[in-house]
Amino acid sequence: MRILVTGGAGFIGSNFLRLFVPKYPEHIFINLDKLTYAANLDNLIDIEKAKNYYFEQADIADYPRVQEIFKKYSPDIVVHFAAESHVDRSIVGPADFIHTNIIGTFHLLEVCREHWKDKEGKLFHHVSTDEVYGTLGKTGYFTEESRYDPSSPYSASKASSDHLVRAYYRTYGLPVKITNCSNNYGPYQFPEKLIPLMILNALEGKPLPVYGQGENVRDWLYVEDHCRAIWLVIQKGRVGETYNIGGDNQPTNLTVVQTICDILDEFVPDSPHTPHRSLIRYVTDRPGHDRRYAMDITKIRQELGWQPRHSMSEGLVKTVRWYLDNPEWVEAIRKQQDFQKWVSQNYGERRYETPQEGNR
Ligand code: NAD
Ligand code: DAU
Repeated sequence: MRILVTGGAGFIGSNFLRLFVPKYPEHIFINLDKLTYAANLDNLIDIEKAKNYYFEQADIADYPRVQEIFKKYSPDIVVHFAAESHVDRSIVGPADFIHTNIIGTFHLLEVCREHWKDKEGKLFHHVSTDEVYGTLGKTGYFTEESRYDPSSPYSASKASSDHLVRAYYRTYGLPVKITNCSNNYGPYQFPEKLIPLMILNALEGKPLPVYGQGENVRDWLYVEDHCRAIWLVIQKGRVGETYNIGGDNQPTNLTVVQTICDILDEFVPDSPHTPHRSLIRYVTDRPGHDRRYAMDITKIRQELGWQPRHSMSEGLVKTVRWYLDNPEWVEAIRKQQDFQKWVSQNYGERRYETPQEGNR
């Protein structure tokens, strides 16, 4: 099989390639990535010289360029990870989210429609998020039948792309599958997202900014478990179907941050910042902040036999260890100009000007 992976230099895409390129030398993997601020070719050092791996720098919204790549490699399968993925950035500036997540997905679908006249053995696998379903109250789970009700420009753009993918199946018979997954964490995650941000700030003795009172809930999944689920759905899932993926694991944000602090206290007991919990600060909440996510994973469990292999405590220990063991990777990102600018403009002292009640 010839598998075109979009966004393979990002967090989940690079974990996917690192897992499956060596495991399946009989398949060809082509990584199509624009290399935005979130991309990092260092994530792919382990496989960049593999005989079954190719890289093409391109924007998925650049139709002629994507056409050229399709003509060159004739992929059978597209695994579509490429996206603008950070909710806070979508609040500050939604334009890139509309460009990549909606227009980009549309162009990719169009190229598939044009090239896959014979649909036998072809598949467009769309990687999406639980955020399309909006927020849950105190109880309940999202199922594949939950109503779409996105809250942020990011989740609205992902919802839009899901609708387009489904429409191409129903209208043109394009063979598609969709997976909607909960929050991923693990090695190689860009440190603007909660878990790596907290690990790296804590190591430097910087404040750990918890939105609101830290009572929001996410359903955390170790990234390799997500990658295995996607592979299984590609192999065995039914065409035209959606599968929810989640970690069966829903701590509050505050619990996640406190657990990271406790792991660091154990791993770096001599740090001047121990106990790391003292760095926690309650800051102004994210606008439109979804209260709680929790995925019902009955369908993928019963139909395909998938379930997460990592508990959150195991996964967090592995993740903290990875960031401690990879200072060069961390340093290279810290030096990235765009990241520096974003942090100082959006995650800097400004976030501490209006602390919520309960700061301790
Ligand atoms: P990421 O931000 O780490 O990586 C995104 C990658 O896409 C980057 O390499 C970037 O360069 C590339 N990209 C962005 N715009 C592009 C464009 N126009 N053309 C080509 N490449 C482009 O994202 P991630 O966290 O790895 O997420 C991957 C996918 O999984 C996204 O579709 C996201 O919506 C979805 N998802 C993420 C999570 C999560 O917790 N991170 C959970 C569920 C679903
Ligand atoms: O649910 C899946 C989604 O998870 C993916 O589709 C997105 O691509 C991914 O970024 C992630 O979105 P979240 O907004 O949930 O992730 P983030 O890491 O930004 O935030 C996790 C929670 O932590 C959320 O409730 C906001 C909170 N938070 C986040 C940051 C960055 C804080 O309290 N402080 C912070 O500094």
